[in-house]
Amino acid sequence: VRLGVLVSGSGSNLQALLEACAREDFPAQVACVVSNVPTAFALERARRAGVTATVVDHQAHATKADFERALLDALRAANVEWVCLAGFMRLLSADFLGHYAGRVLNIHPSLLPAFPGLHAQRQALERGVKVAGCTVHFVDAGTDTGPIIAQAAVPVLPDDDEQALSARILAEEHRLYPLAVRLAVTGKVVQDAARTRVAARAT
Ligand code: GRF
Repeated sequence: VRLGVLVSGSGSNLQALLEACAREDFPAQVACVVSNVPTAFALERARRAGVTATVVDHQAHATKADFERALLDALRAANVEWVCLAGFMRLLSADFLGHYAGRVLNIHPSLLPAFPGLHAQRQALERGVKVAGCTVHFVDAGTDTGPIIAQAAVPVLPDDDEQALSARILAEEHRLYPLAVRLAVTGKVVQDAARTRVAARAT
């Protein structure tokens, strides 16, 4: 299965996917990496792994529709079948998602549905929760609202600041994302008809 990974930043989750895909028994490969931020370190990680790295800068496109058309072009040029968002900081429209229906995944640094959107770890600290974590989910047109595939929990410790908690969550993200990609691309989980939940499929 050919993955396209969309990024905007450091790309440590991309790195985890690249390393998983390098294993012989992993059912996917990273076919291309696309960043909307020209300076994203994720691009460098892709190049080091020998993967096509493309910049599609949202600021260079007059409309969101133009931006998404360019994204689609980049993904299609690499024959991408599934899309993984990995620290990709733009919302995708229902129109774009329709081209990859049921085949777009995202990772988010909270136990959704708690704390969607920006600064999830800060939100968790401010709310005073004692357990935090990360979620991989199918992407719909909302912000971090799609059907949940997998989650991992970490404790929030009394002295945690945003950086310490983020690092603890990030370590789990790197473990969880490849696991969830495997479940999804092998059809072990699918979105149910209402697209609100994940259904396990008997194999
Ligand atoms: C991660 O915390 C991810 O959950 C969130 O953005 C961050 C990206 O980090 N969506 P990286 O670029 O993968 O290092």
